[in-house]
Amino acid sequence: MGFPTIRPRRLRASPELRALVRETHLSPGDFVYPMFFNAALDAPRPIRTMPGIDQLPLSAAREQAKAIKARGIGSVILFGLPKTKDDRGSSGLDPSGPVPVAIAEMKSAVPELVVMADVCVDEYTDHGHCGILKKRAGGSRADDWEVDNDATIAVLAEIGVLFAKAGADVVAPSDMMDGRVAAMRTALDAEGFANTSILSYAVKYASAFYGPFREAADCAPKFGDRAGYQMDPANAREALREAALDEAEGADMLMVKPALSYLDIIKDVRAHSRLPLGAYNVSGEYAMLHAAADRGMIDRDRAIMEVLTSIRRAGADFILTYHALAAAELLGG
Ligand code: PBG
Repeated sequence: MGFPTIRPRRLRASPELRALVRETHLSPGDFVYPMFFNAALDAPRPIRTMPGIDQLPLSAAREQAKAIKARGIGSVILFGLPKTKDDRGSSGLDPSGPVPVAIAEMKSAVPELVVMADVCVDEYTDHGHCGILKKRAGGSRADDWEVDNDATIAVLAEIGVLFAKAGADVVAPSDMMDGRVAAMRTALDAEGFANTSILSYAVKYASAFYGPFREAADCAPKFGDRAGYQMDPANAREALREAALDEAEGADMLMVKPALSYLDIIKDVRAHSRLPLGAYNVSGEYAMLHAAADRGMIDRDRAIMEVLTSIRRAGADFILTYHALAAAELLGG
């Protein structure tokens, strides 16, 4: 007489049993929907690399807020395409720029919508880098510039205050400069915005999966790359260091980005921090899934739910995802 066969499959016998023992749940309230507002548009403009996602005119902000709310999605994150760019990202400081206007419109249409605003200068600089550049003494022609960390965080703090003034509930620095969370918290508090939260893109890798976004937000670097400020995909311990620093500087929530190639990092950060944790299911991850589904290689809807469930299972409390509207619909919203 041997042991009886241990049978985990017993608990997979029916949809009801499977629901009973399911460990991870998704709901539209877990999603943050990223949106691109282009100040130069009168009508939505499809983004070639991101099927189903448009750059939006500011005139669409109010109706979009209502449609998103109607799907049960509680949060959005806004990116801006300004009319003009320069080497210092000055249009990021324009109170009538695309992001402040979109924030105000969306909040007035749906006050309870959590409106987050991405804070970075790459959307506003003509060179497309996430910082203010300075000449590097003695550099060769290809390498004669560097990002001025401290000049950049001063501008980021100002942009954060501008977005808070416009009504943003959450400001989200995505630049990866050192010290930007502390600078932004100090500036927000000094200007009377103690209740505006900071979601830090704490752990952001230099990733190939941002490709489609750079078309969406028109912010591809004109020279060089972002490896001098975004993290090396080979590093995991460094993620914990970045997360701990941003937490110490006063971040209210942390984020890991991208999500799918970094599920181990999500799990690590979750284990080391008590802050709410988000993960960004980025443009390239979205584009890959659609490209495969459009060619009949995978089932779009099942793949979307599997991807989002995996990110939650790894430990993310919420997910920034272009799938938000489709997923909310699949969830019955
Ligand atoms: C930078 C920023 C990027 C994304 C969000 N904020 C691009 C980058 O760092 O190159 C990428 C988002 C995506 O790919 O979906 N402001």
